[in-house]
Amino acid sequence: MLATKTCMAISDGEFQALRKIMQTASGIELADEKRYLVINRLSKRLRLHGFENFGAYLALVRQDPVERQMLVDLLTTNETWFFREPKHFDWLRRFCREHRGMVRVWSAASSTGEEAYSIGMTLAESLAGQRWEVVGTDISHSVVERANRGLFPAKVIDSIPREYLRKYWLKGIDEYAGSILAKSDIRDHIHFRVGNLNQRLPSSMGLFDVAFLRNVLIYFSGEGKLRLIRHVLERVKPDGLLMVGHSESLFGLDLPLEQLAPSIYRKTH
Ligand SMILES: C[S@@+](CC[C@H](N)C(=O)[O-])C[C@H]1O[C@@H](n2cnc3c(N)ncnc32)[C@H](O)[C@@H]1O
Repeated sequence: MLATKTCMAISDGEFQALRKIMQTASGIELADEKRYLVINRLSKRLRLHGFENFGAYLALVRQDPVERQMLVDLLTTNETWFFREPKHFDWLRRFCREHRGMVRVWSAASSTGEEAYSIGMTLAESLAGQRWEVVGTDISHSVVERANRGLFPAKVIDSIPREYLRKYWLKGIDEYAGSILAKSDIRDHIHFRVGNLNQRLPSSMGLFDVAFLRNVLIYFSGEGKLRLIRHVLERVKPDGLLMVGHSESLFGLDLPLEQLAPSIYRKTH
């Protein structure tokens, strides 16, 4: 058994069981060293239910799909920021210069939405009158809800170019003081919904010209990683672009992709 002062203890068997549930639900493989993360993130939830151990919590998670979703929400890592890995946005600008017609971009693990809004500002600036749409999806219900609000703490303004701030964001007042809100110029083109990349995405999502699949592959390996990328590629047009995080490698994977630059790929067919 492992324990910390303020957190619950988890046995080996309970940790393995939670790991399995998480893997089945999301495809995410929790490594051994994530054990303390699991304890830290779930202890509060256990206390909220009045449970004194993980055994009781596991029984609940096994029978209640809503609690299983809550588990996924609590164990996913949602760190993100505006214009993260700026080189991808340079490629997006370049794509827009060469593309005719409507542009659809997918933020495939969109977290709280900073990536999708960064894409939206880039498209609004780069497209001369063409229609555009950004779709953000994430497995976590709570982050999708937050992303849909388009409301961010004012401290993020340092990561958004001044000119874009003026054009695309409103400064909150009264109850929204200390926040910024996306203007309808970008907001009306950006939509978020729950989407699990461990499963095939519905064809009703349509096809995308560019997919951002960044900083999520690190939680997957082997067959699971390959399956996830295939699910994403199913929804990308031939010749469309795929951006992955700079620390994520697709080396050696059998995929219909041509590498254009580090972390940037073109779907070949
Ligand atoms: C670290 S954030 C990355 C956010 C953004 N793409 C970026 O690069 O800043 C990883 C996100 O992947 C999501 N995620 C993890 N597994 C997923 C899955 N199977 N399907 C969809 N989203 C998933 C998490 O909920 C989390 O919000």
